[in-house]
Amino acid sequence: MTAKIISGVEIAKQIREELKAEVAGLKEQHGVTPGLVTILVGENPASVSYVTAKQKTAHELGFHSVQDNQPEDITEEALLALIDKYNKDPAIHGILVQLPLPKHINETKVLYAIDPDKDVDGFHPVNVGKMVIGEQCFLPCTPHGILEMLERSGVETSGAEAVVVGRSNIVGKPIANLMLQKRAAGNATVTVCHTRTRDMAFHTRRADILVVAAGRPKVITADMVKEGAVVIDVGVNRIGKTPEGKAILCGDVDFEAVKEKAAAITPVPGGVGPMTITMLMKNTVQAAKQFAGLA
Ligand SMILES: NC(=O)c1ccc[n+]([C@@H]2O[C@H](COP(=O)([O-])OP(=O)(O)OC[C@H]3O[C@@H](n4cnc5c(N)ncnc54)[C@H](OP(=O)(O)O)[C@@H]3O)[C@@H](O)[C@H]2O)c1
Repeated sequence: MTAKIISGVEIAKQIREELKAEVAGLKEQHGVTPGLVTILVGENPASVSYVTAKQKTAHELGFHSVQDNQPEDITEEALLALIDKYNKDPAIHGILVQLPLPKHINETKVLYAIDPDKDVDGFHPVNVGKMVIGEQCFLPCTPHGILEMLERSGVETSGAEAVVVGRSNIVGKPIANLMLQKRAAGNATVTVCHTRTRDMAFHTRRADILVVAAGRPKVITADMVKEGAVVIDVGVNRIGKTPEGKAILCGDVDFEAVKEKAAAITPVPGGVGPMTITMLMKNTVQAAKQFAGLA
C-alpha cells in the first residue's frame, strides 16, 4: 500500500480562500476588519521568520495587521503594559506574543495577561479549561489544524484507536483531549505516549490514527505502524543544510518507509506546518466576529 498524502499546503490554501471571502463579507456587511497584533521581543531568527509569515498571511487575508517589535531588554512590566494597551484596543481582536521570550521575562505571566477573548493562540488557561470541558473557545493552532486536516481528508475518527506520541501543552495534550471529545474529528479512544512509556511500539502498532509530536527525527519507524493507519507527523527537525544554506527538515516519522504501510500520511514539510498559521487566522476572524456580536 502506498499512502495517500494529506497535503497541509492544499488544505491550508482552501481554508485561506474561505477566510478571505469571510473577511471581505465582514468588512462589507458589518464594517468589521479583523485585527491581529504580533508582538516580537528581540531578534531570534526563527521567531522573526515565524512572525513575518504570520503578518504576511494576515495582510493577504485583508486583516488590520500590526507588527510590534520590542527590544530584547524590554522589562516584563513594559511588556505587560503593552499587552494591556492591546487588550483595550477595539481595532485589535487577536494578540499573539511570539515565544520564546527572553529569560528575564516570565512567559506564563505574559500569556496570562492576554485577554482570553483576544487569546487567538489558545494558550490562556481560560481557553485551555474551556477546551477540556468542550465549550466554545480558541483552540490552540496546531491541534486545531490537525482536526481540520482529519475532517477535510474524510478520516473517520469516531471509535478509532488514536495514539498520540508527545504530551506537550501546545500539541500532545490538546490534540489528545480534542480527539476524545464528542465533536467532529473526535470520539476516538485515545492513548498518549511519552518518554516514560514502557513499550511505545505496543501502543503505536494499535493505532488507527497515529499523531506524532515528539521532536525526534524518525522516531517512528515502519515496524511501529499498523498497515492502513493514518499518520499525522507534527515534528519539524532540522537535520542539516543544503549547499545553499537552506535548512533540511524532516519529521518525527520515517516518511519513506511508513508511507508504504500507511493509508494516509502528512509530509514534512508541507503537512501540519502550513495549517498552524492558517488556524491562527481562523481564530482571529472568530475573535472579530465575537467582538462584533456576530458569533
Ligand atoms: N508544524 C507545526 O506547526 C508545529 C507546531 C508545534 C510543534 N511542532 C514540532 O512538533 C514537535 C513537538 O513539539 P512540542 O512543542 O510538542 O515538543 P516538546 O515540548 O519538546 O514535547 C515533546 C514530547 O514528546 C515526548 N517525547 C520525546 N521523545 C520521545 C520518545 N523518544 N518517545 C516518546 N515520547 C517522546 C516528550 O516526552 P516527555 O514529556 O516525557 O519529555 C514530550 O512530551 C517538534 O518537532 C516541534 O518543532 C510543529
